[in-house]
Amino acid sequence: MYYPEELVEEVRLKNDIVDVISGYVKLQKKGSSYFGLCPFHNEKSPSFSVSRQKQMYYCFGCGAGGNVFTFLMEYENYSFTEALKVLADRAGVELPEMEYSKEAKERADLKTVLLEINKLAAKYFYAQLKSEQGRLAYTYLKNRKLSDETITAFGLGYSNKYSDDLYRYLKTKGYSDEILLKAGLISADEKHGAYDKFWNRVMFPIMDANNRVIGFGGRVMGDAKPKYLNSPETPVFDKSRNLYGLHRARTSRKPYFLICEGYMDVIALHQAGFTNAVASLGTALTSGHASLIKRYVNEVYLTYDSDDAGTRAALRAVPILKEVGITARVIRMDPYKDPDEFIKNLGAEAFEERIRKARNGFMFGLEMLERDYDMTSPEGKTGFLREAAKRLAEFDEELERSNYIEAVAKTYRVNADELRKLVIKTAVRTGLARPPEKPKSTLNREKGKEDGILKSQRILLTWMIEDERIFSQIRRYVKADDFTEPLYHTVAELLYHQYEEGALNPAQIMNHFTDEEEHRRVAELFHTRIKELSTVQEQEKALKETIIRVRQHSLDERAKHLEPTDIAGLQKLMADKRALQDPRGLHISIN
Ligand code: CTP
Ligand code: MN
Repeated sequence: MYYPEELVEEVRLKNDIVDVISGYVKLQKKGSSYFGLCPFHNEKSPSFSVSRQKQMYYCFGCGAGGNVFTFLMEYENYSFTEALKVLADRAGVELPEMEYSKEAKERADLKTVLLEINKLAAKYFYAQLKSEQGRLAYTYLKNRKLSDETITAFGLGYSNKYSDDLYRYLKTKGYSDEILLKAGLISADEKHGAYDKFWNRVMFPIMDANNRVIGFGGRVMGDAKPKYLNSPETPVFDKSRNLYGLHRARTSRKPYFLICEGYMDVIALHQAGFTNAVASLGTALTSGHASLIKRYVNEVYLTYDSDDAGTRAALRAVPILKEVGITARVIRMDPYKDPDEFIKNLGAEAFEERIRKARNGFMFGLEMLERDYDMTSPEGKTGFLREAAKRLAEFDEELERSNYIEAVAKTYRVNADELRKLVIKTAVRTGLARPPEKPKSTLNREKGKEDGILKSQRILLTWMIEDERIFSQIRRYVKADDFTEPLYHTVAELLYHQYEEGALNPAQIMNHFTDEEEHRRVAELFHTRIKELSTVQEQEKALKETIIRVRQHSLDERAKHLEPTDIAGLQKLMADKRALQDPRGLHISIN
C-alpha cells in the first residue's frame, strides 16, 4: 500500500460515484438507485445500477461491480494507483510524492519492480526502433504493412545488435543482476557473464489486461530459428492466464473475441478494425485462458492457421471453451495460412464474410471428419454418419442434441428422422443413452467441495452487507475467524470491525485492496448472486443452511489443526459442534 488508507478514503468520499459514472454512462434515477446501459457488456435494456447511498455499482447482467476506484480501473484499464491519482486530481486532493530508494522498492514488492523493469525495457526497445539503429527493423514492420499508428498502439520495438545493450542500460538504472535475471530479460553463464536474452529482433511487448507490460516476444527479421523467442514465465508473466491483445480487445465492446495463434495475426486484425482479436502466447489454449475470456464474452471465433496443426488446435480448444460456457465457432483461413496473410490479400470485408460463414465447433469437427471417409460412396457416407451419430449421442441436453441432429441432416442431406433413429440406436448400444459419468478424480471432488464452501462464505458476506439487521443475526453464530479463505477472512475482519464501530461501509473496505486481482475478487465478493428466493421462509431456510455450512467447515478446519494435547481446545470444539447440531439453537428471522 503506497498511500495511507485515510487519504485513499478521503479521495473516495470526495468523488461521488453517481457523479463520476455519469461522466461515462447515461444514468437515470429509479427508486433509490440509478440505472443505465452497462459499459462492460453489450445490452439493450439497462441492468447497470449505481447506488449513491452505498457508493457502489453493480450490473445485474454481467456481474461487474465495485466502488468508484473499481469503476475507473475497469473502464480505463487503470491500476489502483492510477485511478487514485485521477480521482484525487478531480477532487483537488493533493497526494504526497512517494519517493523510495531503489533498494527499498526492491524489497517492498518484487512484482512491482518486475513490472517497472519490463516497462523500462519496452520503452527502450521502442526508442531503438525509432532510432537510426532500428531502421532495418522499422522497414521490416513497414514491409509487413503495419502503420505507424499500429506500431505505436502495440508499442512494438527493436532489440539491437549488441548482446548486452539492454543489460547495461538497466544497470545504469540501478537494478541488481539478481532482479534482472528474475525479470527474464537477461541470461547469464560462467563464460559470457550477463547478456541480453533478445537481440536483433523485432520486439512485441506483451501486456496484461491492465496495460502493464509483463513479458516480450521477439521475432527474427529473416528466416533464422527460432522464429520467435518469448520471455520465460516470471512472477508477473503467467502464459496460461494471459492473452496477447487482451488489453485492447476487452474494451472493444463486441460480444465475442477472435482467437488466433500469433502476434502478427492479432496486430493485423486490430489494424483492419477487428479490435476484439487476441492470441494465446505460443501455447495451446488452456482452461485458464478460457476462464479469463469468460470474464468478457460468452462467444469466440477461432481463427487458427489453416494447416493441420491449426486445425487440431481448434478442435482441442472447442471443448475447453465449452467447459466454461463459451460457444466457439471456427473461421477458415484457406487458401491463406493465417489471418495476417488473409487480410493482407483479401482485406477486411472478406474476413467479415468468413466470420459470417463460420462453422460452430461441432460442425467444424464433422467437416474435419469427412476427410477420413470417401463421401462419394454409399459405404463411405454411411460410415461417416455412424461416427457422426456417435458424437451426436454425446450431447447431454435433449434440445441441443435435437437441434444438432437437424443441422447435420440438413448439411449432409439425409432424413432427420432416420438420423435421429440412428443416434438413439447408437446411444442405447454404447450405453450412451445418458452420457457416461466421467469418473471424477478425488482431486476434482475435493475441488468441487472447496468451491462450494467458498461460495457459501461469499454468500454470507454479501448478505451481511445487504442488510445490517441480518448482519446482527449472523454475527451471533459466525465470527470473522469462520471465514477460512484468507482474502475473505481479511474482508470479514474489516466488516466486523466496522459493524462494531457502528457503520457498515463496504465501499471503504475495497480501498484496502490495491492489487488489481485482489480488488476485483473483493468486488465480486460483495456481489455474489444469491438465488432469487421468493418467500421469507425460503430466505430464512437458505440463510440458516449457509450459516451451518460455513460454521461446520470452520470447525472441521479447526479440528484438523488442533494439537492432540490441547484438551481445553478439544472440549471447546466438541461444545461448538454440539451447539451446531442442535437446530433449535439457530434463530434467524428476516423482516
Ligand atoms: N511461436 C513461438 N515460438 C516459435 C514459433 C511460434 O512462440 N518458435 C508462437 C508465436 O506467438 C507466433 C505463434 O506461435 O506468433 C504462431 O506461429 P507461426 O504461425 O509460426 O508464426 P506467425 O504468427 O505466422 O508469425 P509471422 O507471421 O511473423 O511469421
Ligand atoms: Mn503469420
